[in-house]
Amino acid sequence: MTFYTSVAKAIFTIIFARLYTPQSPPHRNLKGQTAIVTGANSGIGLSIATALAKQGATVYLACRNLEKGDAAVASVVSQLSSEGEKRVFCWKVDVGDLESVRAFCAKWEKEGRKIDMLVHNAGIAEPPVGTKKTDEKGRDVVLVTNFLGSFLMTCFLEGYLSDRARVVLTSSTGHYSAIGMMVRPRMDGGAPKSVSEGGGIVQGPLGRLKAYLGIGTGSMPSYALSKAHQVLFAALLQSRFDSTPNNQRTAHAFSPGFTSTPIFGKFPVSWKTWISNPLFAFLKVTEQYVAVETAEGAKTGVWLASCGGEQGIERGGYWEWMCRRMSLVDLVRSQLTDEEWRVESGSVWRGWEDDTGCTWGPPATAETLM
Ligand SMILES: NC(=O)c1ccc[n+]([C@@H]2O[C@H](COP(=O)([O-])OP(=O)(O)OC[C@H]3O[C@@H](n4cnc5c(N)ncnc54)[C@H](OP(=O)(O)O)[C@@H]3O)[C@@H](O)[C@H]2O)c1
Repeated sequence: MTFYTSVAKAIFTIIFARLYTPQSPPHRNLKGQTAIVTGANSGIGLSIATALAKQGATVYLACRNLEKGDAAVASVVSQLSSEGEKRVFCWKVDVGDLESVRAFCAKWEKEGRKIDMLVHNAGIAEPPVGTKKTDEKGRDVVLVTNFLGSFLMTCFLEGYLSDRARVVLTSSTGHYSAIGMMVRPRMDGGAPKSVSEGGGIVQGPLGRLKAYLGIGTGSMPSYALSKAHQVLFAALLQSRFDSTPNNQRTAHAFSPGFTSTPIFGKFPVSWKTWISNPLFAFLKVTEQYVAVETAEGAKTGVWLASCGGEQGIERGGYWEWMCRRMSLVDLVRSQLTDEEWRVESGSVWRGWEDDTGCTWGPPATAETLM
């Protein structure tokens, strides 16, 4: 499938998915398997956690708010038979706070359990109302929350991944709009030095108008880049796994399409939003008419978490509606020689290490990828 066909299908899925035949991931017996799902107290994460628990898995809901997390545990348990309460738990983690991620992983180390499914799902469209766009170290809050927290968590928990572990990242169709940051800078002979510098196909043409009206840059470029990094991470993590002989571990990224969840209630839409974040404004206004139900949007993630290591499911790829799609990362990869890919992906990987303050093996690790 070509890149442009994938983009066209993604747009169709956003608008017409309610008319599609519902996805039907096969039921697997996950008894004895352990899953961690971040951002599992609502929306897609809660649906994934519920579906995995219904297939028999022990599930840890990794949530930043214990009150909401405990309510989510009660909701999952209520859908299971009486033994269910012994295998659904809520653990606290704020993936936007790397110290909290470290604390979560330290606690897991004490628990010492093997992880069969690690689902990085927690995410935000923009920083919570009234909060800053960057953290105390100047890192983009959306990027930290949607991606860097997952990177650090995977780094720390890698040693606990079982031999057939599946790592799944809830990415987004929105990752395509990072094209201005991932492709155009290359053609211009340099990488963007910040998220806002990169632009993007949605934001770029609006830049001058926003400047004229005194409206700041919306979070769409950050969101798109964070989602593109998730897709790239799935590919690179797979390569890292595959560097071990007889590897059975897998990594996958997926888009839930346009799914009705609480995320759209978390950002206000005014006339300014139509200029700063037109895509988010459009999605919020049309959600009730167009978006699919939460459980439907979660199904590709459930399928990859439960079946991701099985034959016929390509490893390290990007999926939508249980179909492999060509991602922006696939496009970039296809334009580079092996050597260019090795150098460029290695440098991005080292950037993630710098940003999270972790050393995931020697620096050469990423250079041996691919
Ligand atoms: N809905 C869609 O159409 C759509 C489309 C593409 C991609 N996605 C992706 O799907 C994922 C799930 O979103 P959703 O639509 O299901 O929305 P949601 O219901 O708002 O779920 C997001 C979850 O992430 C949690 N979260 C946010 N920031 C966190 C942090 N710093 N630490 C820990 N947990 C945090 C939220 O917890 P709180 O309740 O405490 O805020 C919530 O549980 C996100 O990554 C989103 O980007 C959604």
